[in-house]
Amino acid sequence: MIQIHTAKDIQNLMKNYRKEGKTIGFVPTMGFLHEGHMSLVEKARKDNDIVVMSIFVNPMQFGPGEDYEAYPRDIERDRQLAADGGVDVLFTPEPEEMYGQEPTVTASVKKRTAVLCGRSREGHFDGVATVLTKLFNLTSPTRVYFGMKDAQQVAVVDGLINDFFMDIELIPVETKREEDGLAKSSRNVNLRAEERQEAPALYQALQRGAELIRAGERDPEAVKREVRSILGKTSGVIDYAEIYSYPDLEMREPLTGKVIIAVAVQFSKARLIDNIIVDIPADQKEDL
Ligand code: PAJ
Repeated sequence: MIQIHTAKDIQNLMKNYRKEGKTIGFVPTMGFLHEGHMSLVEKARKDNDIVVMSIFVNPMQFGPGEDYEAYPRDIERDRQLAADGGVDVLFTPEPEEMYGQEPTVTASVKKRTAVLCGRSREGHFDGVATVLTKLFNLTSPTRVYFGMKDAQQVAVVDGLINDFFMDIELIPVETKREEDGLAKSSRNVNLRAEERQEAPALYQALQRGAELIRAGERDPEAVKREVRSILGKTSGVIDYAEIYSYPDLEMREPLTGKVIIAVAVQFSKARLIDNIIVDIPADQKEDL
């Protein structure tokens, strides 16, 4: 595995791979790698000649008062995991390398951000879209890999690639879970023992909501009530439990097409998010 620190070096290397006709799979991360990240690498490894991963804790996507400084970092461990997982090129720039000068242009996301995490984290997705535009230009990827754990991020990246005619294929990867259904996340270590016992309720609530929709329920309020009642049994505070169209993230009533049920629950030291996507087949739309 080659590790690279500068924008110029990665751009030259990746351009050469493209000239040689190699396909490139890109996995952007903020590090502190876990099995969720590594499942993206695994998929990228299967689909491409070269796998490149970036580890960069992007200051622009953290708001004032958020945990930029406290974000967990362990580059030595990450380097080992990346190498063992089959990453060919690891890009680990410093913030000055990515944001050296006062910017002339930054990305501004216009849709898909007024709800869910975008609502509570103002400017967050502008930071994500800006850094990804930079990283995509540096790595010349054929395909990029994103986890559905962050489904709103996938929806924003989908908009970014389409609106700017980027010649990149977006590959969403399903959420990697613990055996009891809890979505893998570096934040899970911040759960207290009792909270860890309760945390699978997020996925149980989502599955129950999906089951209701599959059984014909088309009233989003009825589904949300059921989801909230299951989440309400935990000691956490419900931040949101919503249903929107996916990937547009708009309110639709009655429910039709592809919908996302998304939840966020604040425990004492960890805010957990999870979601499930349900495809309502066209021939069932008029069932109720
Ligand atoms: P980060 O939180 O490090 O996540 C990197 C990628 O791993 C994202 O695409 C995320 O959805 C995916 N991921 C996290 N947990 C997962 C799980 N349990 N199963 C499957 N995939 C999972 O997301 C970011 O970094 C940043 O916003 C970034 C895109 C790198 C831009 O700075």
